[in-house]
Amino acid sequence: MIMKRRSAVAALLALPLVLSACGGGGGDEFTAQDGALQIYSSQHRNVTDAWAQAFTEKTGIQTQVREGQDSSMGQMIIAEGDSSPADVFLTENSPAMTLVEREGRLAKVDAATRAQVRTGMAPSTGDWTAIAARSTVLVYNTEKITEAELPKSLLDLQDPKWKGKWGAAPGGADFQAIVAGLLANTDEATTKTWLEGMATNAQVYQNNIATMKAVNAGEVPVGIMYHYYWYRDQAGDKQGSANTKLHYFGNKDSGAFVSLSAGGVLKSSDMPKEAQQFLKFVTSPEGQKILVDSGSMEYAVGKGVASDKALPPLDKLNPPPVDPFVLNSDKVISLMTDAGLL
Ligand SMILES: [Fe+2]
Repeated sequence: MIMKRRSAVAALLALPLVLSACGGGGGDEFTAQDGALQIYSSQHRNVTDAWAQAFTEKTGIQTQVREGQDSSMGQMIIAEGDSSPADVFLTENSPAMTLVEREGRLAKVDAATRAQVRTGMAPSTGDWTAIAARSTVLVYNTEKITEAELPKSLLDLQDPKWKGKWGAAPGGADFQAIVAGLLANTDEATTKTWLEGMATNAQVYQNNIATMKAVNAGEVPVGIMYHYYWYRDQAGDKQGSANTKLHYFGNKDSGAFVSLSAGGVLKSSDMPKEAQQFLKFVTSPEGQKILVDSGSMEYAVGKGVASDKALPPLDKLNPPPVDPFVLNSDKVISLMTDAGLL
């Protein structure tokens, strides 16, 4: 029965789909292999591959990763419905997971898995869990602006004095998660006004890395992005960040939003036991160490697991008290479209 369903789905998906990961990169042809745990992933490829390989080595369970971006992957799972080959879904940002959750497509995550994760990083519904975390930051060019001149709040960036002075990548799921955080931390009117200010003031870049490089080159004095791209560049040749520093808004400001990368098991999985086992592995001290050792510079979310030493501790970031489980990506996309940002 199981093999039949997988074969039928494989036949339906005979047309190759071209997908790309966060920050660009090539696409992959995809045909689900019988007997392999199907991991749909919009997390960074190197991290997902490291988890999948280590899991296979440890358990002998074969895995296959299908890559895409947050919203397209979430939409694909919903469109495939009961016949989706997906057993596990890993996202970069939690709004893509809540999209799938709201369609009732997620099984409960094993309690033992949720118990491995820091408090507040697995929803009370039990439908998914955090697997990593990333912080919003302001990157600034130290030759173009002083620390005293930096905005005190993300909301300040809508003011006319910031016209042409900041950059961001509104087209990406990363930035859209930040806007979802703003919406959850404030209200629709505030978010709408801020987005309109952004449309007037901000230079638009393709992704976080392009934003960082533009700030580094002095095209704009400041940019809004996630922390880990900066720390990766700093750990390497510093080509994209040598002239910059990071500013953390803290103070529960919307600009201190911490986004969760999420992991879930599909209700329609025909390998539910193995899917649960995989998620347990990813969130275990061993799996979280793989994340840290990958050099991704994202935050570990497993209890008792230290993130990279270069990062300020997660519990010192003072993010806004946003429930990540209410983030509404559909609303964000409509507000950003109305503001002319998408
Ligand atoms: Fe990313």
